[in-house]
Amino acid sequence: MAEVIIALDLPDRAAGLDMVDRLGGEAGFYKVGLELFTSAGPGVVSDLKDRGKRVFLDLKLHDIPNTVGGAVRSAAALGVDLLTVHAMGGRAMIEAAVEAAREAGDAKGASSPRILAVTVLTSLDAKALGAVSGREIYDTRAEVLRLAGLAVTAGAHGLVASAREAQALRSSLGDRVLLVTPGIRLKGGDTHDQTRVTDPGGAVRAGSDYLVVGRTITAAPDPAAALGQVRQAMEAE
Ligand code: C5P
Repeated sequence: MAEVIIALDLPDRAAGLDMVDRLGGEAGFYKVGLELFTSAGPGVVSDLKDRGKRVFLDLKLHDIPNTVGGAVRSAAALGVDLLTVHAMGGRAMIEAAVEAAREAGDAKGASSPRILAVTVLTSLDAKALGAVSGREIYDTRAEVLRLAGLAVTAGAHGLVASAREAQALRSSLGDRVLLVTPGIRLKGGDTHDQTRVTDPGGAVRAGSDYLVVGRTITAAPDPAAALGQVRQAMEAE
């Protein structure tokens, strides 16, 4: 059964923890991204772990293998459950991340984060991707599939992908790859700045393991009720 991860895209620790406390036992998995991590620091991950929550640390690491390996070790020491790296960092970088996660799991008392690869940022269209790649790119989806294959071959445990790509990734990469999908909206709900959204049922049908949901829940007048609606839409599948 797919699970919801709530994106805590909030400006600071107080706002983040206020949302976590409002949701209480209703929610067990949170995504901490660059905004909250940069403002609140690693302590916010410990705050979540102290409340018994699982944490997806979405830092999209992209650096030399030694540096990324070190960052994964630091994240593991915090108890992070899921962590992102850019597939474009290359095979050696992904392997270093996966190896650091595995070693942390072997070490007594540390958790072992699962490494998720980000392929092509959805903010890049074919033209922008061609400009950074130095070659003509006509089909960003083919690039997503190519980079996903590279990441999984290098040992990545999963991928961040839109629900629209999840089905193709599942059939080409198999059942063991974790698929984490953002861009989720309730049918008829506010899309905010997202242009390509999928409803919770569609994401479940596409084979997503985790649905990342932010403003649909965190900007709702009653976040717990909104989470209930998302779960209902998932279960209707
Ligand atoms: O508020 P909303 O549900 O749009 O939040 C979605 C979350 O997923 C945000 O944290 C956003 O950064 C992240 N995300 C995304 N699209 C991607 C990758 C990540 O919306 N392609």
